[in-house]
Amino acid sequence: MLTLAEIEHKAAAQLDPAHYDFFAGGAGDERTLRSNVTAFDRHRLRPRVLRGTGQRDLGMTLLGQQLAFPVLVAPTAFHRLAHPDGEVGTARAAAAAGTIMILSMAATQPVEEVAAAGAPLWFQLYPQPDRSFTERLVRRVEAAGCGALVVTVDSPVFGRRERDLRHGFLDLPDGLACENMREPGSSHPREIAWDPDLGWDTVAWLRALTPLPIVLKGVLHPADARLAVEHGVDGIIVSNHGGRQLDGAVATLEALPAVVDAVAGRLPVLLDGGVRRGTDVVTALALGASAVAVGRPVVWGLAAGGTEGARAVLELLREDVDRAMALCGADRPSALTSDLVVPARWCHP
Ligand code: FNR
Repeated sequence: MLTLAEIEHKAAAQLDPAHYDFFAGGAGDERTLRSNVTAFDRHRLRPRVLRGTGQRDLGMTLLGQQLAFPVLVAPTAFHRLAHPDGEVGTARAAAAAGTIMILSMAATQPVEEVAAAGAPLWFQLYPQPDRSFTERLVRRVEAAGCGALVVTVDSPVFGRRERDLRHGFLDLPDGLACENMREPGSSHPREIAWDPDLGWDTVAWLRALTPLPIVLKGVLHPADARLAVEHGVDGIIVSNHGGRQLDGAVATLEALPAVVDAVAGRLPVLLDGGVRRGTDVVTALALGASAVAVGRPVVWGLAAGGTEGARAVLELLREDVDRAMALCGADRPSALTSDLVVPARWCHP
C-alpha cells in the first residue's frame, strides 16, 4: 500500500457498505467534505533550496506533550465498527508512531481501557446538558491520565448525514455501545445528547471544573477564536467535523489563516479535515497551524488491517511529511513559514 487512497480502497472492500458510508460520508451534498480536500489543491508549495536539511527533526511539543511528528489522530466514533481491535488498536498505533490520539466520547471502548494501551490520550467531549454527568465523565478522563480535554463545539444539533439515512444506519449493531456513556452500576449507556443551548458559559464552567488543558474543536470564525482566547482555553482546532455537520462550511485550510491571525500566537492552532499527504501537512503548518489531525485515514487503516493498518497509515504520513519537509528546505516544523505557500494558478482551457 503506497498511499492513503489505496488503504481507503481496501477498507471499502472489506467493510459493510453502510459502515463504510458512515465513516466516509458527510452532511448534505458533501460540499464541505470535498472542499476540505480540494482546498489543498488550491495551494502550491514554493520550496527553498540549498538549505542543508540532512538533519531533520519532525518532533514538537504541544501543550506540554512531546510528539514525534506534527500529526495527531482526530477523534472519530465507533472504531470497533471498523475492526475488533477498536480504539485500543488505534491507541497502540498512535503510541508506536509517537503521537497523540484524541479519543472520541463516542468510542466503543472505555477511556480507562484505551488509556492502558499506552498512547498519550486527549479526550474529546460533547458537553452534555446534564452537567453532573459531564462532571463525572471529566473526572474519569482525569483519572485515566488524559492530557487534555478537546471540547467539540460545532455540533449544537446533529448534521444531516444522508448516506446514513439512505442505509437506515441509525444505531450501533448489538454488542457495540458508546462505552464512555456507561456509568458504573447501570447496564445501559446513556445516549449522547446534542445541546443547541451550548454557549460560552459552558466553556467557562469547564475551565473552572478541570485543570486539564482545554482545546476547542470546531472553530472556523476568527471572532470565535478571539473569544476562545478570552475564555482561557489552551488550544483551538480549526475543524468542520470532516464535513459532517454544516454542509457549505468553509474548508478548514481556507479558514485557517484568519484564525491564526486572530489568535496572534497566544495559543496553538491545529487543523483537521482533508489531510491526506505529507505536502498537506507542510502546507497547513506553513499557513500557521501548529499541527494537524487526521480522521478518516486512520479509520481506513484500522478497517483494512487492525492495529497494524492504523500504524501503517501513521508511518506513511510520517515518512511523507519528512520527505516533503526535506524537499521544501525545512529541517523542523518551525521552519515551515508562510512564504513557502502560494495560491495555485488555474490554467484550465
Ligand atoms: C468524526 N469526527 C468526530 N469529531 C468529534 O469531535 N467527535 C466524534 O465523535 C467524531 N466522530 C467522527 C466519526 C467519523 C466517522 C468521522 C469521519 C469524523 C470528526 C473528526 O474528528 C475530524 O474533525 C474529521 O474526521 C477530520 O477530517 P478527515 O481527516 O476525516 O478528513
